[in-house]
Amino acid sequence: MAGNTFGTLFRLTTFGESHGKAIGGVLDGCPSGLELDLEAIQNDLDRRKPGQSAIVTQRKEPDTVEFYSGIFEGKTTGTPIGFAIHNTDQKSKDYSHIKDSYRPSHADYVYDQKYGFRDYRGGGRSSARETASRVVAGGIAKQVLATLKINAFVSQVGEITLQKEYKELDLTLTESNPVRCPDPETAAKMEEYIKDIKKEGDTVGGVITCVAQNVPVGLGEPVFDKLHAELGKAMLSINAVKGFEFGSGFEGVKMRGSEHNDQFNKDGSTKTNYSGGIQGGISNGMDIYFNVAFKPVATVLQAYDTIDKDGNEVKAQGKGRHDPCVVPRAVPIVEAMTALVLADFFLLNRTVKL
Ligand SMILES: Cc1cc2nc3c(=O)[nH]c(=O)nc-3n(C[C@H](O)[C@H](O)[C@H](O)COP(=O)(O)O)c2cc1C
Repeated sequence: MAGNTFGTLFRLTTFGESHGKAIGGVLDGCPSGLELDLEAIQNDLDRRKPGQSAIVTQRKEPDTVEFYSGIFEGKTTGTPIGFAIHNTDQKSKDYSHIKDSYRPSHADYVYDQKYGFRDYRGGGRSSARETASRVVAGGIAKQVLATLKINAFVSQVGEITLQKEYKELDLTLTESNPVRCPDPETAAKMEEYIKDIKKEGDTVGGVITCVAQNVPVGLGEPVFDKLHAELGKAMLSINAVKGFEFGSGFEGVKMRGSEHNDQFNKDGSTKTNYSGGIQGGISNGMDIYFNVAFKPVATVLQAYDTIDKDGNEVKAQGKGRHDPCVVPRAVPIVEAMTALVLADFFLLNRTVKL
């Protein structure tokens, strides 16, 4: 079954390819009467768009979203919200070099094997261009969840790691630099590093940390649809993601239960939050925080060895406009996927108790 739909009640279906006419989506299940701030949605798209700074791909797309249905006089009507973003700066000839061969560690080989036919222009459907539609729907989800705060930021680029916890950071500084790291000193180092990597025609990975605050107690549907399981799925569905850890994550392994247990305050909140705001798959009202690891993406602007469709070894040369490090542009995508999961569980939770 094609996997182009995400969510149970708050349900997004996306369509489109990198070099097609447009990408877009249909968001179903959005409650009616919600006054939409369309500027906030466009602002999130602008944070994801190509060409926004010297350290991202220089493809120049305005990424302007157009809504076709589900909104009347500025408010949602409760009917499907259809929208599209037109592709305006496709340079398909940039990709003729990969028409007959596969970029190692991209999706070219598996798409060809699975479907027997491939839109090679810009990676077709496997391109992260699709994630712009997620950002639009996530922007609406954020407004459904107006009382929640969802903030993602870059916490690692290659070996350069932010040495502070999210609570020690001023998250309003995330947008103050092109890397989207809220610590200006670390951000400057990361920026220089990405520029060096770009000069070499290479790529580097990174980590995005995301924090959701003011989440009510009770979101998550055990046993298979636990909140952290759905967040994990949402994050791992983003292109180039290789890892997800929430709460104390892998570091927690080194602690003892007596240290790791989050002791209660009288009001049910906890003195520590190693649980990452989720216990038994259900939100407990504490901050939800998690890390998402992105690989160094496949397209290096260097000569490389690969194979062609017939299995012959060939030499190829990476070309085109690509991201040397995708995490600065992926911050709004992580926020959007978080909002989609939380909005869905928020609506599902209304079916639980009379
Ligand atoms: C914001 C963003 C931008 C991306 N840009 C590129 C790119 O310029 N070149 C590239 O090879 N991959 C890029 N990717 C990653 C590919 O889409 C992804 O690696 C590919 O579809 C294979 O999927 P996988 O890495 O999840 O296995 C980008 C990913 C994101 C999130």
